[in-house]
Order: sequence, then structure tokens, then C-alpha cells
Amino acid sequence: MNWWAIRVRAEGADSDRVAAWLVQHTGQAVEQTERGVVGFVAAGEDAARTVAALRRVFALDAACERVAETDWTTRWRHGLAARTIGRLTVTPSWLPDAVPGAARVVLDPENAFGSGEHGSTRAALTLLERHVRAGDRVLDLGSGSGILAIAAVRLGAVRAVGIESDPDANVVARRNAERNEVGTTVSFVDGDAGDLTPLLGPADLVLSNILRNVNVRLLPAIASALRPRGLAIFAGMEASEAERFRPALAAAALQEADDVTDAGWWAVAARRP
Ligand SMILES: C[S@@+](CC[C@H](N)C(=O)[O-])C[C@H]1O[C@@H](n2cnc3c(N)ncnc32)[C@H](O)[C@@H]1O
Repeated sequence: MNWWAIRVRAEGADSDRVAAWLVQHTGQAVEQTERGVVGFVAAGEDAARTVAALRRVFALDAACERVAETDWTTRWRHGLAARTIGRLTVTPSWLPDAVPGAARVVLDPENAFGSGEHGSTRAALTLLERHVRAGDRVLDLGSGSGILAIAAVRLGAVRAVGIESDPDANVVARRNAERNEVGTTVSFVDGDAGDLTPLLGPADLVLSNILRNVNVRLLPAIASALRPRGLAIFAGMEASEAERFRPALAAAALQEADDVTDAGWWAVAARRP
């Protein structure tokens, strides 16, 4: 498939806001560099309209250009580095272990979401690392590259199941599970999390790094899949969305236990009584 790259000159908080807008409007991962933000839309969609909307909303310099197909197959490798989050190290397969002895996840995201470079994934990993307990049974809704499910098992969970609506992402996630030799304890199913979560519970821990409106839609299914005292971790929301999500948590009878913000992305952990 051919793609358009959308380039926006932006710094600091502007860069974070543009990145969040692009993720929300294109559904694709973005790159943040010193010069600004690069997002992507598939050829056939209206890249020029996206550029015009960015100029209108942010009053920043934006432009688009075609990306050759051959660039896309290896583009995901650019900018990836080993990252440490508490006891956890996430590293691409071609880099050496950054912190010997840490719980290590070897992760090649390819074209699936979930490299560990995005603030929403990092915020979810931070809360996961703080709260997962040995022996937990975990559901990971919108599992993308498999990063959260694999990390959960690396940190002591006994079983993790990812639910993902994009079958191509699940191909990548299964490769990553094999790469980490957790193919027997981590599995990935194709489908909608709203349909499958009630069938795959009960769970001690549910992870849901999806956009706020999807998290809100999934809340009843998540609450019913949790064991009593079970914990749900929600991410994929900007910090400004926290006050709009909290009433939905309360309506689902989940009690906020912890939260974290990373690069403008907010994640929250909430417990079933
Ligand atoms: C922001 S990515 C998160 C990926 C990874 N879990 C992470 O933390 O980096 C959200 C993922 O949810 C998937 N998704 C969106 N809506 C879904 C739904 N209703 N059911 C299952 N997966 C969904 C998308 O395809 C995407 O892979």
C-alpha cells in the first residue's frame, strides 16, 4: 500500500497536541522529531484535506508528500531504542539488552501499533509494571504489537490474552510472543473487544489502550469480566480527557486507584470493589 506523509512543524506542547490530533484523525502511529511531527494517511484518503485541517486548527506549517512503498516496509525501524520502565526493559530485536537482569520484552512492532515509543503505551506499561501481580490472568484489549500482553507475563502474570480487531496486527503480535518464548502463555484472538471480553473473563487485570470513546463503550464488558478486586488499566486518552472519562468509570462502579501522564497521554488504573 502507498502512503502520504503529513509533516507539521511544531515544538513542545504544540508537537504533543498535533501528534494527538493526528493519531485521533488518522488512526496511525506518528513520529515526533526535533523539527516536528510526521503522520501518515493511506493513499486514496484525502491527505490535502488533513493538511488543510491541521493548518486551520493549529495555524502551523503543514505539508504532505507521497511515501514510496519500499520505505514503508522498514520505516518502523527508524528511531526505535531500548526503553526501561521500572523493572521492565523493552528493546527491538536487533539491539542488545539495555539492562541485564530486568524483565525483558523483545519487540519488533513492524506495522502494528505498540513500539513503546508512544506516550499512551508507555503510560499503560508504567501502570502495568506497578500493579500486575504474580499469578494474574490478564486480558489486553486492542493488543496491537502484543507489547502489553507480553510485558504482563514477563512481569509475573500466569496468562495473557490479547483481543485485536486488526488481524494483521495479530500476525505481528504472535511473532513477538514467539520471539519472547511466551507462545504458550500469551495468545491473541481476532475480533471486537466488546464482543469477546465477556467470553474471555474472568480476569484479574484488564488492559485497554484504545481511544476514550472506545474505552467508554467497552467499560460495561470490562467491569463484568473483572474478578472482585480486579484492576483495569485504561490508556489512549489525552490528559485533557481525564475529567470526561472519570464519570464513566464511576458509572461502571470502578474506583480509581492510580494514574500517570506521559508526553500528554493519560492512563488510569481503576479497581472493581
Ligand atoms: C493504541 S493501539 C494500542 C496497541 C498496544 N496495546 C499498545 O499499548 O501500544 C489500539 C489498538 O486497538 C485496536 N482496536 C481498536 N478498536 C478495537 C476494538 N473494538 N476491539 C479490538 N481491538 C481494537 C487497534 O487496531 C489498535 O491495534
